[in-house]
Amino acid sequence: MSRFSLLLALTLTGCQTLSGTRPSAPMDVHSHARPDEVRAKHVSLDLDLDFERKSVAGTAALDFERLEASAPLVLDAHRLEIRGVHGDDGTPRDFELSEHDPVLGSALTIELEPGDARVVVDYRTSGNTEALQWLGPEQTSGDAPFLFTQGQSILTRSWIPLQDSPGVRITYDARVRAPEGLVVVMSAEQLGRHDDGTYRFRLDKPIPPYLIALGAGDLAFAPLSDRAGVWAEPQVLEAAAHEFADTEAMIRTAEKLFGAYRWGRYDLLVLPPAFPFGGMENPLLTFLTPTVIAGDRSLVGLIAHELAHSWSGNLVTNATWRDFWLNEGFTVYLEQRIMEEVYGLERSNMEKALDYDDLVAELAKQEPWEQVLHVDLDGKHPDDGFSNVPYQKGALFLRRLEQVFGRERFDEFLLGYFDDHAFQSLTTAQFHEYLERELLSTSELSAQVDVDRWLYEPGLPETAVRASSDGIAAVEAQLERLARGTSAAELQTAGWVTQQWLHFLENLPEDLDEGRLRDLDLTFGLTSTGNNEILCAWLVRCVRSDYDAAYDRLEQFLMTVGRRKFLSPLYEALAETPAGFDRARAIYARARGRYHAVSSGSIDRILDWRPAPTSS
Ligand code: BES
Ligand code: ZN
Repeated sequence: MSRFSLLLALTLTGCQTLSGTRPSAPMDVHSHARPDEVRAKHVSLDLDLDFERKSVAGTAALDFERLEASAPLVLDAHRLEIRGVHGDDGTPRDFELSEHDPVLGSALTIELEPGDARVVVDYRTSGNTEALQWLGPEQTSGDAPFLFTQGQSILTRSWIPLQDSPGVRITYDARVRAPEGLVVVMSAEQLGRHDDGTYRFRLDKPIPPYLIALGAGDLAFAPLSDRAGVWAEPQVLEAAAHEFADTEAMIRTAEKLFGAYRWGRYDLLVLPPAFPFGGMENPLLTFLTPTVIAGDRSLVGLIAHELAHSWSGNLVTNATWRDFWLNEGFTVYLEQRIMEEVYGLERSNMEKALDYDDLVAELAKQEPWEQVLHVDLDGKHPDDGFSNVPYQKGALFLRRLEQVFGRERFDEFLLGYFDDHAFQSLTTAQFHEYLERELLSTSELSAQVDVDRWLYEPGLPETAVRASSDGIAAVEAQLERLARGTSAAELQTAGWVTQQWLHFLENLPEDLDEGRLRDLDLTFGLTSTGNNEILCAWLVRCVRSDYDAAYDRLEQFLMTVGRRKFLSPLYEALAETPAGFDRARAIYARARGRYHAVSSGSIDRILDWRPAPTSS
């Protein structure tokens, strides 16, 4: 039996989708839920945001389908205080909270009465809730506090008790009360603020639980088109609206390539700089770091990326975190296609070349298991599988299919893929089966793609292509001159765009001394750049070469920005020398409390930091 037919057989016995019976969830090792017995369908939230106690409290009413009559409802809960559970009739239900597992949290098992189709869980979040970041006014642009949630991958269970598996899609609605003056937004249709001060939301399209998201702060709105707009603190609204002005053009391009945008509105929420990611594709409302606002729209590939998740990720979702590449690999590929249409092939190729180089550099440091698209995460946190592999190797696999079958044929396949799986979650095996049926089996060309190798083996197949770009080649020519001793002022850099500067800074000759670094710094204004990607690449290099003049800026950056993608390489570079390590720990002692749990988790490991144990 070939690997493929073995997988197919496993898929069919496990999921029965092709036989026409109900799809049962594939094994998700990252959830306690048993959706094949009792399956959540909808959650109705009624919540108070308590900024004083840094706690969210209220009720989550869950509607469910019972597939096994006597089975209990099993939910995921991470450090939640469960105050009670009752049935729709108001009478209490028995429940049990299992022992806390540091990765998975607890199973909340609720015994059901025969007629139950809905239960209400009364709860409140406790200290150190991973999904929530509460920001004091000193971490925002104005004088109001801020709260945002981050659900991916398995953090939603730390603020809502539910079946926290991406294979269990639910609809939701919410009523939320916040302190006077704060505006609340969610990843749903915004039904506005009612007279009693309650904000209301509704999403009638089934989504994986990691996409339920909320933001609250001093927020203002600026429209970008009839269906797109941006929410931000008033102080950054204008700059944000200018930066993201091409959003509607991106949506139109994506629709042309991948089919209708099915979510209604597409809005952006610009968060304070503590946000741990570049972007998060919460449906109808992408969450964004303000560090992409460069003034020249040079970093808006991030918008193309988060928008693309409206197809790959939100419409068609990875069924388990082993299948994360189905979200991110597809999204990077879609992002590149959108960028090519809106900004031209050359810019898209520059971005692809940089991404390719990042992947190759990372593969060189990884263990074989980490290099596999269908990654084995048994006994691990989903975050352990987070790297360039699902993103870039995943995109290169799709790029290879495009190359072999031709763009026209591959685009047709993609359209069909999104259409046939709309509002469904699928596994790598299910994708493989679909690919075989709809594309591979239709053409002799299939022999040119070793799909098993791409999906199930480590390393990068030789057929992966690094995009060629004149702009990147031009940078390489100047890097050679620099290595031969040419001064900064004599380098030909006129007209360089951000991607070229990044390639330049990431490939500076190893042996530049302090004087030559200063020459580059003063000539190109590097330490004072307002472009955070360029700044981060430069600061990493400064730390490696112990270039003194950059340390003040570095410290200021580490004290304000919480984006993990920037923090990790900076702290790693510092940790390479004993003096740098001490400097890093001194800064981190002050900065750690300002970072999201996602970021501090990563930096704790880099700096061997042992957080004080928490009581809750
Ligand atoms: N969905 C991811 C962010 C994420 C992944 C959060 C895994 C939690 C767990 C988002 O779409 C993303 O990939 N963001 C990138 C941006 C990007 C352009 C590659 C980021 O934040 O840097
Ligand atoms: Zn993504």
